[in-house]
Amino acid sequence: MNELQEPQGEALLRVEALRTWFPVRSGLLLRPAAWIRAVDGVDLCVEAGRTLALVGESGCGKTTVGRSILRLVEPSGGRVLFEGIDLLALAPAALHPVRRRLQIVFQDPMASLDPRLRVRDAIAEGMQAFGIGVGEAERSERVAALLRRVRLDPSHMDRFPHELSGGQRQRVCIARALAVGPRLLVCDESVSALDVSIQAQILNLLRDLQDELGLAYLFITHDLGVVRYLAHRVAVMYLGQIVEAGPTARVFEAPRHPYTRALLAAMPSVDPSRRSVGVGARGEVPSPLHPPPGCRFHTRCPEAFARCRAEAPALVVRDDGASRCFLSE
Ligand SMILES: Nc1ncnc2c1ncn2[C@@H]1O[C@H](COP(=O)(O)OP(=O)(O)OP(=O)(O)O)[C@@H](O)[C@H]1O
Ligand code: SF4
Ligand SMILES: [Mg+2]
Repeated sequence: MNELQEPQGEALLRVEALRTWFPVRSGLLLRPAAWIRAVDGVDLCVEAGRTLALVGESGCGKTTVGRSILRLVEPSGGRVLFEGIDLLALAPAALHPVRRRLQIVFQDPMASLDPRLRVRDAIAEGMQAFGIGVGEAERSERVAALLRRVRLDPSHMDRFPHELSGGQRQRVCIARALAVGPRLLVCDESVSALDVSIQAQILNLLRDLQDELGLAYLFITHDLGVVRYLAHRVAVMYLGQIVEAGPTARVFEAPRHPYTRALLAAMPSVDPSRRSVGVGARGEVPSPLHPPPGCRFHTRCPEAFARCRAEAPALVVRDDGASRCFLSE
């Protein structure tokens, strides 16, 4: 089942049947009255040194997947195997050393940097937490090297976040994540808040860092242009589940799932001659509180038929990816 990304290299991160439901509490005792099924059986695989993009419309559960992997929210079930270790089975103390090799970079660098900390202290903070760089001089030297890595002049280390541009702040966040020597970065909409030209610079930087350091990325985005530029493989998410996955070129050239086709059809930069391959998904995304029965996409699918309303399609895996649709069985 989880061979849906059929990695050829080493599987650095393997997510199996991940489920993260949020309770909706009510009554005096605040008992869960219902569940928001934000992530409802997700399988993913990120190879060492490669990029997997996770895409889908707002609210489909992308951020919850990322946060669940790092246990910033507590998943309800499934397995998260990082370097072969199931992170969900670890006690918090045992999780700490793993965090060195698994870092997250968020969308809004202003919100993730403490405005009172100079760049040097923001970067050194993480190093100290892991006992890296003892002594002031060694830490300064490491911070300078990290700033050079993200193509910032080391003189920036004495600045405060508000003295930097948005792009520079995001470079500092990347340097801070790199400070502890990770093998995998989870990037959650990490360039979405930036101007297009600055976005391109940060994406270039991430690509260069991958080449230089052998980093792997789980790149969470709703921007298919970014996916095509950066990702080796892509997983498309709809209402808490993966509906299609495969090598980026195959998914863009020959999308199998009607939802992927709808996303591609709505993508502004896609070649107009290929627009006809998909019909934009109609209407609103249903609530993850009450996912539709049968195929979760049937309420919006231009190709839905009777069976789709009654039965849930399984993820069908083939050599070049997977699709959750009766039409691709
Ligand atoms: N802590 C929480 N408590 C309750 N519900 C939550 C919580 N976090 C997320 N949700 C709900 O889970 C669903 C998935 O949210 P999530 O933020 O993971 O989606 P997303 O794909 O990242 O969306 P976006 O593209 O807007 O960032 C949404 O319905 C959201 O309202
Ligand atoms: S199973 Fe049916 S409703 Fe679901 S995506 Fe396929 S055709 Fe559409
Ligand atoms: Mg999100």
